[in-house]
Amino acid sequence: MKKPIIVANWKMNLSIGEREDLASEFKKQFGKIEDKDIVICPSAISLMQVASIIGTSFISLGAQDVFWEESGAYTGEISPSILHDLDCRYVIVGHSERRHYLAETNEMINKKVDACLDNNIIPILCIGETRKERHDGQTDNILISQLRGGLKKVDIVGDEQIVIAYEPVWAIGSGSVVESSELDKVLTLIKQSLIDMYPLTIVQNNVRIVYGGSVDADNVANFSKLKLLDGFLIGGASLDIDKFNKLVKKI
Ligand code: PGA
Repeated sequence: MKKPIIVANWKMNLSIGEREDLASEFKKQFGKIEDKDIVICPSAISLMQVASIIGTSFISLGAQDVFWEESGAYTGEISPSILHDLDCRYVIVGHSERRHYLAETNEMINKKVDACLDNNIIPILCIGETRKERHDGQTDNILISQLRGGLKKVDIVGDEQIVIAYEPVWAIGSGSVVESSELDKVLTLIKQSLIDMYPLTIVQNNVRIVYGGSVDADNVANFSKLKLLDGFLIGGASLDIDKFNKLVKKI
């Protein structure tokens, strides 16, 4: 594992007051942790609030989505430069919930990844197969096409970073997790696909691969043993400070 990254994806949960309380708890528990990257991704409306709470601590801020244009007539969207100005270091891009409910395509996701890198933001590119695709033996094809589609013509240069999040759709919020041995095979596939697209040194130094989908304090230690895994994207278990704390301690 490289320096582990643990991303708390709060999704569209919690009231404004609850987000304030939870962000303060995060700061208390993790604000001084340097050997793990802890990232909070609240709803866009709470980015400023969470940014001011975490302040200059070691916790990073992330957004749950971004638009690819810099400005203009794009009602409801948020530009990457605004996220950058709000101190967002990361943006989750192409989460399966957005692919599913908002019909995001690989083409749209690809533009978002590019826009992030152009604005010094680290994209967390989510890929993952549905239960049906898995059942039909399509997992590898889906993952490769989402990876290639999301990263089409994307250069990673200098110290630019990206994170690839493998999140099997059937595991998200379901309480079912992937078997460790299966995850290991998927990580190998992702790593090999990245090596086919980028120089080895870039894959080794600039890309981290994380897993998401019903990760909790009970199953995280088992996954942490996998050499190719660099961290986790956590939904439900990031909404409770005690659960999240237990989980982080096991990584
Ligand atoms: P979960 O969500 O941990 O609640 O399964 C993970 C995610 O969607 O990022």
